[in-house]
Amino acid sequence: MGQGVLTAGFSRVDNALHCEGVSVERIAGEAGTPLFVYSAATIRDRFTRLDAALEGVPHRLHYTLKANANRAILELVRSMGGGVDVVSGGELYRAQQAGFRGEDIIFGGVGKTAAELRQAVEADVLFINAESEAEVRLLDSIAGELGMRARLSLRVNPEITIESAHEYIKTGEKGHKFGIPYDDVVHVGKVALQCRNLTLVGLDMHLGSQLSRIDPYRAGTQRLVQLHSELVALGARDIRWLDIGGGLGVRYDSEEPPDLGRFGEEVLPLVEGTGLTLVMEPGRFIVGNAGMLVARVLYRKRSGGKDYVIADAGMTELLRPSHYGAYHRIEAVIRSGDTARVDVVGPICESGDFLALDREMDQVGPGDLLAIYDVGAYGAVMSSNYNARPRAAEVMVDGDRWALVTERESLSDLVRHEIATPSWRS
Ligand code: LLP
Repeated sequence: MGQGVLTAGFSRVDNALHCEGVSVERIAGEAGTPLFVYSAATIRDRFTRLDAALEGVPHRLHYTLKANANRAILELVRSMGGGVDVVSGGELYRAQQAGFRGEDIIFGGVGKTAAELRQAVEADVLFINAESEAEVRLLDSIAGELGMRARLSLRVNPEITIESAHEYIKTGEKGHKFGIPYDDVVHVGKVALQCRNLTLVGLDMHLGSQLSRIDPYRAGTQRLVQLHSELVALGARDIRWLDIGGGLGVRYDSEEPPDLGRFGEEVLPLVEGTGLTLVMEPGRFIVGNAGMLVARVLYRKRSGGKDYVIADAGMTELLRPSHYGAYHRIEAVIRSGDTARVDVVGPICESGDFLALDREMDQVGPGDLLAIYDVGAYGAVMSSNYNARPRAAEVMVDGDRWALVTERESLSDLVRHEIATPSWRS
């Protein structure tokens, strides 16, 4: 990070794994497994570091709900003065439930429905990131119907090639579905300036996720600043926000996370003197390292020369290994000192259900607890009920206190919305 070692929310005290001041074994014993455990101190640390790195210019941090929309996390972000970035009516609702006001909320997303746009206008959000001319026109008519003026920002596709961990998490290259193609932005800007019920207040981009290099941010910011000048020349007088998205990477294995010092040195000067306020929408950076998945080993099995560890968590709790080939460090909560080469798999009826393949790790047996690291971002939010598995519980730790912040789903939750007999049958 260029500013010392990242603070660890998870550490060992005489071999016993702790989240801050609380034993992970103790929490799992009381709350059961599979279980997500979040470190409040880590979230505070990341938020504060990023905020400090941007201190040279007027700025705002809008934590992105899609990384982890747990209410306790949202309230923590709010207590630190952060805003949020939401991409659906559901996330907007969650943000409001957690106490965020309209002015704290940015609304984005490539396929917003008319109902969602209406919800965002009614909530009087800070701005709505529009991704096409058609969306700009729809938003104008919705704001007109509501007798309101909506604040609009244009999501630009900066068309910058990036290095990221997986194709699926690149979003700002030429031809991607996201944003307005770079060459079309001025035209869409002109359309927006003519809309009677809209005020063009911002420009936005998002390059992709899990980025470790600074140069794409520099290049993208330059492109947005250039567009800003062109739009001002066309009469845009109200552009205030320069939203450069999220994407800052974290360490899962041996990756080098972005150097925040260099980020400040290379990106902030581009914003200085423009009169614009810099906005970032970080997700993974704030919560990625702050979460752990705790699972219990059910069985060991040997098949075709391979050793399997069968755990009570799998792709339903953590989709990232099977969906993106993502690496998550796994340790025994209580380490024996021995190691073995194993596949760690879940109980789901899919061969793609794994947490780690061909991994040299702590030797474990039935009943042992596993700690799967760095699942705070895109862990619980991407979990599912596949195989009719109730979603896991979530716990937050703060110092020497811990609390259940999401109850484990019950069996009756699984059928709560089902209508057993279609009405036409009666
Ligand atoms: N803003 C926008 C418009 C985004 O699309 C995203 C993430 C973010 C901000 C936050 O990006 P972050 O700071 O978290 O990198 N499920 C994938 C990641 C998908 C990211 C989607 N967009 C994964 O597990 O790696």
